[in-house]
Amino acid sequence: MPRMTVNDRPVLFDMDPETPLLWALRDAANLTGAKYGCGVGDCGACMVLVDGEALRSCLVTIAEAEGRFITTIEGLSPDRAHPVQQAMVAQQAIQCGFCTPGITIAAAALLRRNANPSEEEIKAAIGNLCPCGTFPRLIEAIQRAGRVVRRLETISAAPAPGINPEDAAAAVPALRVDGVAPEQP
Ligand code: FES
Ligand code: FES
Repeated sequence: MPRMTVNDRPVLFDMDPETPLLWALRDAANLTGAKYGCGVGDCGACMVLVDGEALRSCLVTIAEAEGRFITTIEGLSPDRAHPVQQAMVAQQAIQCGFCTPGITIAAAALLRRNANPSEEEIKAAIGNLCPCGTFPRLIEAIQRAGRVVRRLETISAAPAPGINPEDAAAAVPALRVDGVAPEQP
């Protein structure tokens, strides 16, 4: 039963240790922000941060994630106002949005290493697929987020509505420290 920390919460997955992390996050922990695209490591829709590194969670088993610190898109920012999230909204770099969580995670990891990436560095770092073709705006958004990280600019795009982690934890045993869901009224 692999244990790890997911979005700052201790989690124990009572599942086959070979279960892909993506499956555990989505199906057991109700964290559906990371998307299932290809399941074989090609698309990047499933990316999460593992000890700060953007990894494809369909390729990581929960046994391999044992003891690691996992951050999903739901935990990237407490108010969904991470510079990448705000710049993605401000630059309208989203169409259907399916690729967006994975790209946001990859971009956040990139900006942590390099807050002033060139277009070529962004293309090299963001291998995620977006069939909708948002790449030109994505590059602008990631560079704009970099300017926010470097305190050269501020953005006040409205954070999108989403799952409150406290609400999710109330109903999902895997997210509760005691592993017990409260009685439903
Ligand atoms: S679902 Fe993991 S890379 Fe596509
Ligand atoms: S916005 Fe649709 S897949 Fe990227």
